[in-house]
Amino acid sequence: ASTLGAAAAQSGRYFGTAIASGKLGDSAYTTIANREFDMVTAENEMKIDATEPNRGQFNFTAGDRVYNWAVQNGKRVRGHTLAWHSQQPGWMQALSGSSLRQAMINHINGVMGHYKGKIYAWDVVNEAYADGNSGGRRDSNLQRTGNDWIEVAFRTARAADPAAKLCYNDYNIDNWTWAKTQGVYNMVRDFKARGVPIDCVGLQSHFNSNSAYNSNYRTTIQSFAALGVDVQITELDIQGGSATTYANVVNDCLAVPRCTGISVWGVRDSDSWLGANTTPLLFDGNGNKKAAYTAVLNAL
Ligand code: XIL
Repeated sequence: ASTLGAAAAQSGRYFGTAIASGKLGDSAYTTIANREFDMVTAENEMKIDATEPNRGQFNFTAGDRVYNWAVQNGKRVRGHTLAWHSQQPGWMQALSGSSLRQAMINHINGVMGHYKGKIYAWDVVNEAYADGNSGGRRDSNLQRTGNDWIEVAFRTARAADPAAKLCYNDYNIDNWTWAKTQGVYNMVRDFKARGVPIDCVGLQSHFNSNSAYNSNYRTTIQSFAALGVDVQITELDIQGGSATTYANVVNDCLAVPRCTGISVWGVRDSDSWLGANTTPLLFDGNGNKKAAYTAVLNAL
């Protein structure tokens, strides 16, 4: 195969990217994105602040722009994200307690209702666990509504769109030995044991010198999969862009049948949220394929 999407499809997987609606007029960007990728995540356009800027008033203009571009070009869409401490609109940041809990439920219903039947997988809850050695939850306004907020979000999501896979998504849960990874693993195990609806775990996989790729990544993927959920690599970028590390990530996913796809978090280095100078993606700023691109294509 000669593109990432086609190469991933050889094993029944997908290869995706984050798409920014503001770049859909850049033909150099859309040419690469359309040619190489078969799954799309809106980089910001389906987040809480974008979709519900005022309480109860939903706006899907930018989200639909990304969604329509993807579907018109034959791609599937991952939904990102419904319940998160970050990129909350001001009105939500100001809420607490039962009114925030109800606002979260209403938000999930509003956004999932709009996209009902159209989304491959939703990141229902994003980044709910703390960094460091606690292995526990991150403090946030959502967490302070009660420890059950995550399962309430998942139960709400299942009812809102039974066709979508429901994912828990986070960063720094790649290294199997880290407390944060174990915390999320224990939550997923508990959810499966108690029948809380969860279908997938998203490993964001933002790798840098502080949270580097580790060879136990495959163990992490295998361990989550063994709980009975799919694993998706959802926001892959590798600072410095090591071709070897990219190949390792692909090989680790391919080693686990329930690792169903990989998405990178942007098209060209110049599109990266980390800044072009971190060179974390598969295409350089001129749209040329990097060594990391060839390593990924060959590994798929
Ligand atoms: C980032 C976007 O790439 C930026 O454009 C935005 O300013 C901040 O959010 N984890 C996530 C993504 O789940 O939503 C984040 O995306 C990157 C980290």
